[in-house]
Amino acid sequence: MSDIFLQIDGKKVKATEGMTVLEAAQSANIAIPTLCHHEKLEPYGACRLCTVEVEARGRTTLVAACLYPVAQDLVVRTRSEKVDRIRKMILELLLAHAPDAQALQALAKEYGADRNRFEKESSFCILCGLCVRYCAEVKKKNVIGFVDRGAGREISFVPEIAAEECWKCKECFPLCPTSYLQAAYSLTEALAFPRDSFKPASKS
Ligand code: SF4
Ligand code: FES
Repeated sequence: MSDIFLQIDGKKVKATEGMTVLEAAQSANIAIPTLCHHEKLEPYGACRLCTVEVEARGRTTLVAACLYPVAQDLVVRTRSEKVDRIRKMILELLLAHAPDAQALQALAKEYGADRNRFEKESSFCILCGLCVRYCAEVKKKNVIGFVDRGAGREISFVPEIAAEECWKCKECFPLCPTSYLQAAYSLTEALAFPRDSFKPASKS
């Protein structure tokens, strides 16, 4: 693969064809905030928190760094008034779902986001899709999926598969930025497969 040189925040960065701007920035220790990105998963582009400004052929546009491919001589700005304003707004929208989520607190402080700007939403899932995608792409189990559309969209466990698989895995739990996943699992477990009903029989 051929080398590509681009500029990120004034620094010359070497990347290879096929890399995203986020990967190139990370390789140069330049931080870009993310909420729906995971190195083991396909890029998803849901949260838009990784928005950066790119300049190519005299045009400046806002793009999601986790999706946007590197290109020779691309100029990237990871912080600017516009970028910061967008991140602040995104965080305020997410804080309406999960005002106490630790993953959002530090970011909210950095971007001056107001946790009370928008009316509180009923679900504290921010629809990052990390749990759904991890289960599908890494574990190949598809225990969790999205249900409904629009404002009613949320994640849901498939109880029959969850009863078989989740108690011995739970690898997705720490990925959730808001802890909604743990709550949803506990509810599924309580309603559909009370703990004792699926535990492996103990040898006696
Ligand atoms: S439950 Fe958590 S990990 Fe899953 S989509 Fe919602 S916020 Fe993301
Ligand atoms: S990290 Fe890029 S859109 Fe979420």
